Amino acid sequence: MSKLATNTKKRDVAIVGVGSTPIGEHWDKGLRELTWDASIAAVEDAKIRGKDLELIIVGNMSGGMFVGQEHVAALVADFLGLKPTPAVRVEAACASGGVALRQGYLAVASGLYDLVAVGGVEKMTDVQAGWATSILTGAMDFEWEAYFGTTFPGIYALMARRYMHQYGLTREKLAEVAVKNHYHGSSNPLAHFQNRIKVEDVLNSSLVADPLRLYDCSPISDGGACVILAPAEKAKQYTETPIIIEASTQASDTLSLFEREDICTLDATVEAAKQAYSRAKISPKDVDIIEVHDCFTIAEILALEDLGFCKKGEAAKFYEGEQTYVGGTLPVNTDGGLKASGHPVGATGIKQVIEIVKQLRGEAEGARQVKGAEIGLAQNVGGSGATVVVTILRRR
Ligand code: COA
Repeated sequence: MSKLATNTKKRDVAIVGVGSTPIGEHWDKGLRELTWDASIAAVEDAKIRGKDLELIIVGNMSGGMFVGQEHVAALVADFLGLKPTPAVRVEAACASGGVALRQGYLAVASGLYDLVAVGGVEKMTDVQAGWATSILTGAMDFEWEAYFGTTFPGIYALMARRYMHQYGLTREKLAEVAVKNHYHGSSNPLAHFQNRIKVEDVLNSSLVADPLRLYDCSPISDGGACVILAPAEKAKQYTETPIIIEASTQASDTLSLFEREDICTLDATVEAAKQAYSRAKISPKDVDIIEVHDCFTIAEILALEDLGFCKKGEAAKFYEGEQTYVGGTLPVNTDGGLKASGHPVGATGIKQVIEIVKQLRGEAEGARQVKGAEIGLAQNVGGSGATVVVTILRRR
């Protein structure tokens, strides 16, 4: 495993503006319009002008395959009327947004830039679901996994089956992840799905890849999200409630699942989390709220363990007594997670961080506001864990 980077960061970095589109099927909007809507909302939230931005970073997994559009960052700068501001696209599969945010964080922390927009966008529903599934398989080891017919539901089903065998997780308990996330999604006006479900609905939904069923899966979504970053010492110029990025860490693992010693652990999550807690000088018990990458229900179970909230094999205990709900001891995925709020892959990592920012500001809509939250953590996963980004945010 990699060594902890030893350089101390030059400056603290704050999020001073956020904006996102509703997540779902946007038949009337393309990549550029989704980016426009999210960026304008973030720029207005930070009370700046677009022209004040010094750098634009865009997380996007596969504009070329989903809508035929490459060179996405230049498109964004052009469509927003921001030329000649430099614009960079970041691709790291479903962690594109998280890695983009980390690049923006590094740009501001280094002292090179003061005002940076970091966006994420994906337009996935213009293609049929089967084709979307094929495009997504490009994020796994194509020659050794996808070529032989594996899909992401299939990969996560292998993890789920192994975990159930090894730790005795029941199918009913796994379903509770989806029930909780749909419950939270019902309070999120931007969520792809806002309907509440019961355990029986999950168990009776159509089989996708045994043991995973429809309600165990995140959907195929369109959406955009954007945050504005500034040095912490200047943040109050833009907002009364800057949210500080205490840590933004990233780790890598094998692209293919079969090369891992233990498929019930994402080593990259363990490593990125270890570095993040060290940088932020906190431990898991200090965290009030988390957004984790529940692309499939089993992924949320693994995340709770790999992030250090409990021992391996014990995450299911969190689903007793509504501890992971708003009002519980560890609210998880208060926006509905990827399962209910949606998974527009390039935007997801930014969308997760926006939920934490809203919670820490006390601005989460409806019944999902967590009272008095001060520290939040987001975990964004690329593929089956080859890339993981962990971000720790704090209200000061
Ligand atoms: N959860 C709940 N409902 C879903 C859903 C999901 N994940 N996906 C689709 N639906 C609903 C649709 O809204 C639709 O409802 P309706 O009939 O009331 O309109 C119905 O199910 C059928 O939708 P459809 O688009 O035909 O579903 P599908 O069978 O083609 O696709 C999945 C379902 C689960 C296969 C697809 O969402 C999927 O592949 N998800 C995983 C995406 C992924 O791998 N992301 C990367 C993760 S690493």
